[in-house]
Amino acid sequence: MPTIDQTQAWRSLQDKAQQVGQRHLCDMFRQDQGRFATFSREAAGLKLDLSKQRWDQDTLADLLRLAEEAGVPAATQRLLAGEKVNISEDRPALHTALRLPADATLVVEGEDLVPAVHATLDKMATMVERFHSGQWRGATGKPIRDVVNLGVGGSDLGPLMVTHALADYRPQGTHPVEVHFASTMDGSQLVDYLTRFDPETTLFVLSSKSFTTIDTLSNANTARDWLLSRLVGSRQEGVDHELVLRQHFIGVSASPEKMAEWGIACDHQLEFWEWVGGRYSLWGGIGLPIALVIGMEGFRALLAGAHTMDVHFQKAPLADNLPVLLALAGIWNNNFLDIRAHSILPYDGRLEYFAAYLEQLEMESNGKSVTNDGDTVDYSTCPVLWGQLGPNAQHAFYQLLHQGTQAVECDFIAPLARYEDVEDPATREHLMGQHRLTLANCFAQSRVLMLGDDAIAEDGPRPEHKRYRGNQPSTTLLLERLTPETLGALIALYEHKVFVQATIWGINPFDQWGVELGKKIANETRDIIEGRQGLDDMDDSTRGLIEATWQASRER
Ligand code: F6P
Repeated sequence: MPTIDQTQAWRSLQDKAQQVGQRHLCDMFRQDQGRFATFSREAAGLKLDLSKQRWDQDTLADLLRLAEEAGVPAATQRLLAGEKVNISEDRPALHTALRLPADATLVVEGEDLVPAVHATLDKMATMVERFHSGQWRGATGKPIRDVVNLGVGGSDLGPLMVTHALADYRPQGTHPVEVHFASTMDGSQLVDYLTRFDPETTLFVLSSKSFTTIDTLSNANTARDWLLSRLVGSRQEGVDHELVLRQHFIGVSASPEKMAEWGIACDHQLEFWEWVGGRYSLWGGIGLPIALVIGMEGFRALLAGAHTMDVHFQKAPLADNLPVLLALAGIWNNNFLDIRAHSILPYDGRLEYFAAYLEQLEMESNGKSVTNDGDTVDYSTCPVLWGQLGPNAQHAFYQLLHQGTQAVECDFIAPLARYEDVEDPATREHLMGQHRLTLANCFAQSRVLMLGDDAIAEDGPRPEHKRYRGNQPSTTLLLERLTPETLGALIALYEHKVFVQATIWGINPFDQWGVELGKKIANETRDIIEGRQGLDDMDDSTRGLIEATWQASRER
């Protein structure tokens, strides 16, 4: 079977890159006044403007042909039907099943998955209700006030990003529960909580698909000993080890055995399935912190928004399909225009962690160089992707975007409306003005990146150091409002974008073998640092670093 770079569409795109790719965005806009209408699409409360990509209609037609030749439509149906698309791990990737409505059916290997998915959601709902009614009590009888999620990667970034984005949607009149996150193995975040929180009213959620991740288990063990040393026997009779574990820990994992072994009570476990990848898992039990912040109704609205995008992805023709178009813009930049850097720039402080979330979603999924057939690719796959809140990044790394030597693709993301419901009229006016200011900056930056010097109507020559070359391609994504529904749709949009790109590149976006060796070597290195294994055969640099560690501990 020919690889993707041997297809007709690929070759035609290489030719187009020589022509269209050499044209400046300025000229494209001058010659085609209707680019916005031609290259914008809407779905699920999102508007996608791809007119500032360095392409024309013929290029897009070729890219769509490339998607056809790569088998994107059939691959999409296989993904959503629960076929084993995660080839190296021989299992489906069914995060979309987690957001199916209760009356749907999805039969995979003879079993309808939907009832079990909704049974977990119902168990979550019962837990959330206990917290919000003040009925979830610690071992000494006080209602829990602080919930700390201990998890890393997909067991941290999704819930962290969404709880921050949707904090405005807290239900009114419930018992106050604050949600916090600790992910780093060095304990820096956790130690801060341990010095500030009251053990009697603090509960930890151990979130780990595998329940073997050393980062999370180290934090969990520290948290457990902190609680036990402060609560057992000290204040109240009957407060024993078992009661503390029961009342202060919830586990979320695909391994109920490991949760039970660690000491999580059976009815305080939320289970999910091996067919949900870690970075795709915020839609089920891993989303418990989200449901604690926005309530179960809000959480179900998040799922509904994602499901709307799933249906769009499944049914819309390729030429109108948001995830497909977003993916194709990335393929065009990466594989044909040689643009290998991609910046994510939300213009809304609530999306502070969105770029960090996408860094894992995109780079852990598509940072691969071997195809599903075991061949090494001879084309580029996932670009380097990073980002930050756009307004803050304007005062940090935009200099490079405007005048540096790197070509960078940017995604600008912003809600169209905000703050209309602020009660105090004067504050509302101020905040709505700030929102307009933010939109103005968002649109101005993508415009200057596109047009360069042409954005300024100024006579006379300017010195070189004040010139802007422009021609940096970008996508703008506008949300009607930032709500649970539109955020769900936005996340699902990027999930499917990643899948479409992986299908075109012929790689598996659902495994992450590249992270395993580092974990193994870290275990061996720890044994050496702690003196359980010798330094023989160690490379000179690592030997020097380990010896410096020993030296430092001798001097303490
Ligand atoms: O090491 C990478 C990884 O496996 C990610 O894919 C995952 O999201 C993260 O670690 C956490 O894994 P777990 O949820 O099993 O603790």
